[in-house]
Amino acid sequence: MLLNLGHDLVLIYCHVIVGTSILYYVLDILVKTVAVIKSNKDTRYALDSIVTHDGMKLPCWALANLSSFRQKIGPDTYDQLDVIGIDEAQFFEDLYDFCCEAADRDGKTVIVAGLDGNYLRRSFGSVLDIIPLADSVMKLTARCELCGKRAFFTLRKTDETQTELIGGADVYMPVCRQHYVNGQVVIEATRSVLESQKLQCGSYT
Ligand SMILES: *[C@@H]1O[C@H](CO)[C@@H](O)[C@H](O)[C@H]1NC(C)=O
Repeated sequence: MLLNLGHDLVLIYCHVIVGTSILYYVLDILVKTVAVIKSNKDTRYALDSIVTHDGMKLPCWALANLSSFRQKIGPDTYDQLDVIGIDEAQFFEDLYDFCCEAADRDGKTVIVAGLDGNYLRRSFGSVLDIIPLADSVMKLTARCELCGKRAFFTLRKTDETQTELIGGADVYMPVCRQHYVNGQVVIEATRSVLESQKLQCGSYT
């Protein structure tokens, strides 16, 4: 579907559960020279490949930032690339500058997949900042794990509160609006129960 568009910058918002499968799918249909970059913060799987939650593998570069990519892959190899896929885009601080240069100056087709929002439904990293650069923006959805409706949000099942908590189905679950709201209520209630129990235990020792 993207083959005839020339130099593009395509931004795909996708849920953590489907993210890499979608990127794989999009790249798979492009019979071109492709490099995939993902964040080296995610060490859940082998670093030299992205592995979808279905277990499909695609070789890729795990980097701390995007500005080092050209040098890491080599300028000659870089020049020959038609397509650059960026996965887990929410983890790259230099996303805007890299996408701008790759698409505008170097004529690459850039396919960016990432989360638009974090588990609190707030903007995640620089992903929203590159909307003005993109030819095409897609928001894909998973299925709500609880009712099967379209899932737009990510519910964090654990009570950690840092923004960048890397995890898969053990930590996150795709949910619809209703179950996001209900889930947050349950998680908040659980947390306050646990905290009051901690206080009580503390007073016995
Ligand atoms: C990018 O990452 C490399 C390591 O891969 C590091 O040497 C370099 O300083 C980083 N650049 C920026 C701008 O953070």
